Amino acid sequence: MSAEIDLATRNLKRRGYLDLDVDPTLDLAEEINRLKKERNAVILAHYYQESEIQDIADYIGDSLGLSQQAASTDADIIVFAGVHFMAETAKMLSPQKKVLLPDLKAGCSLADSCPAPVFAKFKEKYPDHIVVSYINCTAELKTLTDICCTSTNARHVIDSIPLDQPIIFAPDVNLGRWLIKETGRDMVLWNGSCMVHEIFSHEKITKLKIAHPNAALIAHPECEAHILDMADHVGSTSSLLRFTRESPHSEYIVATEPGIIHQMELAAPDKVFYPAPPNNTCACNECPHMKRNTMEKLYLCMKYEMPEITLPEWVIEKGVKSIDRMLEISARAGL
Ligand code: 13P
Ligand code: SF4
Repeated sequence: MSAEIDLATRNLKRRGYLDLDVDPTLDLAEEINRLKKERNAVILAHYYQESEIQDIADYIGDSLGLSQQAASTDADIIVFAGVHFMAETAKMLSPQKKVLLPDLKAGCSLADSCPAPVFAKFKEKYPDHIVVSYINCTAELKTLTDICCTSTNARHVIDSIPLDQPIIFAPDVNLGRWLIKETGRDMVLWNGSCMVHEIFSHEKITKLKIAHPNAALIAHPECEAHILDMADHVGSTSSLLRFTRESPHSEYIVATEPGIIHQMELAAPDKVFYPAPPNNTCACNECPHMKRNTMEKLYLCMKYEMPEITLPEWVIEKGVKSIDRMLEISARAGL
């Protein structure tokens, strides 16, 4: 091992993520593209990533699309420009591949809101229920889950379950409430939430709507009910993107993480997009976890092939069943 890699490894072990200085004169996009070819790596990026990361990715998508790509890629290395639970999902779907996450600390407040040991106790109270978990949860929680879902296929997953079969839905209470409304199914909900989608201000969105009366309000189902109730369209990130491309509106108020506006602007350059304002003056509608990934960290992680996602074998074997069931239901629905 070279001295440079040895230093990187020690840094990684000490701090949990790569923390090396990058030569500021490097053309990072060029370097990343070179490493991609050299390593036979694929970069999968979520819509909430910085636009420069989206621009260099091989695939940009929502949680379902990213899982489908992770399951089918023939690359040797999957570089996940997203958050920890997404990279874990990729590892579970392609355990033989090396899965890298540019910053191991890129977590998720929603996944954190449902610790597996506490959920296991909660589940004991409902022995005849099956568990549907939003994919935004830890690998360990997936081992306690019967079927995963994303916001794109959640309705199809719930509709695939016999009407007399009671359901626990975890961990997002807002998505759960929205699904109860949409499907008419009563479900036991875990009380978790996403820090980004709970920050939108009803009052400030109302003022923005008054200032732009022709703008359509579009919202992700992780938002609270009082925001969803006033929205013209509710859907996953890919659904919101499709709506802005296909609907006749020329202006949109976007109630989800504003990283997706990059793809909306690329797809419809003549349209105008306003990020929905948070209920304070900070940029709290940006996901601090997603935004931990930078071009520098992406470059370093591809150069040193770390930080790598590893999972115990039993977690992969048990947890992947819930993701496989989700992918089967999605394929049957043509998603
Ligand atoms: P989707 O892209 O699947 O809609 O998920 C949004 C999200 O919060 C991912 O963390
Ligand atoms: Fe998690 Fe919310 Fe960030 Fe998505 S936007 S990664 S749900 S904290």
